[in-house]
Amino acid sequence: MLPEETAASTAESEEITGEDEKISEVTDSPAEETDNDGLTYFDGILIVNKTYPLPADYAPGVDDEAQKAFDKMQADAADLGLNIYISSGFRSYDYQAGLYQRYVDRDGKAAADRYSARPGHSEHQTGLAFDLNTITDEFKDTDEGKWVAANCYKYGFIIRYPADKEDVTGYMYEP
Ligand code: DAL
Repeated sequence: MLPEETAASTAESEEITGEDEKISEVTDSPAEETDNDGLTYFDGILIVNKTYPLPADYAPGVDDEAQKAFDKMQADAADLGLNIYISSGFRSYDYQAGLYQRYVDRDGKAAADRYSARPGHSEHQTGLAFDLNTITDEFKDTDEGKWVAANCYKYGFIIRYPADKEDVTGYMYEP
């Protein structure tokens, strides 16, 4: 959010709610949506999901900052004797299209839609998302999987598709 937008929101909330409720009013206000060349941002954060796609020609490659954050996480894990590695990083639109189609051919569309994004709808296409290690459910029970789940936030990452949140994220658990 830009500083002037913050100021505007604060002034508005003072008018509406008074001093005591100011903070909760600002915090609860809906995220600001902006569109920039077909990319959707909420409060400055790029959003990609089943509702908001990326343009087919959007292909930034792996994001430098995300790569550096991963490298640091990997090094810290290695210091503890843990081996984490990227098994799937940046994907182009065409790569995602092929991947999704393979899953549809194998499991059918309804099943594939629970674990694979349609082309244009994958966070991998932002260059900000990484699948780690085996990309299987078993990863969650490994020392590496447990450490990543507990520590990835320190490096700026989140487990994007948590257990029991399919109704919110649209996807099955990805540890
Ligand atoms: N597996 C995630 C949903 C993707 O295909 O981007």
